[in-house]
Amino acid sequence: MKILLNIVAATVLAFAGTVASAEQIVIRLSYVTSPTGHPKGEAAEAFAARVNEEMAGLVRVDTFPNSTLYNDNDVLDAMILGDVEMAAPSLSKLEPYTKAFRVFDLPFVFENTAALDAFQASETGQEMLSSLEDFGLLGLGFWRNGMKQFSANRPLLDPSDAAGLRFRIQSSDVLAAMVEALGASGQKMAFAEVFGALQTRTVDGQENTWSNIYTKKFYTVQDGVTASNHGILDYIVVANAAFWNGLPADIRGQLETIFAEVTAEQNAKAQQINMNARDAIIAEGHEVRQLTAEQRAAWQATMQPVYDQFVGEIGQDVLDAAIASNG
Ligand code: LMR
Repeated sequence: MKILLNIVAATVLAFAGTVASAEQIVIRLSYVTSPTGHPKGEAAEAFAARVNEEMAGLVRVDTFPNSTLYNDNDVLDAMILGDVEMAAPSLSKLEPYTKAFRVFDLPFVFENTAALDAFQASETGQEMLSSLEDFGLLGLGFWRNGMKQFSANRPLLDPSDAAGLRFRIQSSDVLAAMVEALGASGQKMAFAEVFGALQTRTVDGQENTWSNIYTKKFYTVQDGVTASNHGILDYIVVANAAFWNGLPADIRGQLETIFAEVTAEQNAKAQQINMNARDAIIAEGHEVRQLTAEQRAAWQATMQPVYDQFVGEIGQDVLDAAIASNG
């Protein structure tokens, strides 16, 4: 009798468990970077940790860092098909969906991340956030990384030093034009492949933020990193719109509150995370080269023709708003 009761109790418990987990909403959040020592990784993990604690039993966020679910070039297509609920691709990877986002890739358009903040908070920036809805993608917000730096297998101080080199770039025609303006060539490549390509010299150099260069060890297979601060790397956090809008209103509201709080907190930490990564590269004895004001101006002047090439697609109004955000 006791055995029978135990079996009944176990069956009831198992069923209860099935019901509970069947009702729990699971959000898969896919991204390509390290979960630690990285602005996006730390934002993603902080969001997941808060949801998993504060909404336990109702919602669970499962994170997939380091391209373990999708790389950035595939993730939005997967999201449109409903195979993943949330992602945070870099703004450079939105070319198949919208050309206005090309403004973010223009070299030297934002003098610093404060200007980027101002632009994204502006009417133009907020319109861009919602511009993916035609594709079934809901822009939830922007996550910050920081300014990009060039590195190569030879020292880069003058723009002519880059001539003839092949640089890994994200899948962006603006970035291709930018390295072509240097007399170099660009190879579009998924983030997960960059270290191997640098190591085997399939490419000579790359451009990325300190946190990406450090957490993915790019600096260990390069001659040095040049503090060029020539462009920005930033992310749009997107959800499958049908999934998100189909959530019960109270659950959606709580998720959006947590998301907004985590975004504000983590974006404020992004600059420091990048500075820590730069300092760690220096502390390990690797070369970090500073540019003089004249050298930096020479890089800017060499890349300037890219603006004329893309202003038509970006829109003069969007470009003006971006430049105005420098104050
Ligand atoms: C890259 O592909 O270099 C970056 O977009 C990776 C990232 O997500 O920071």
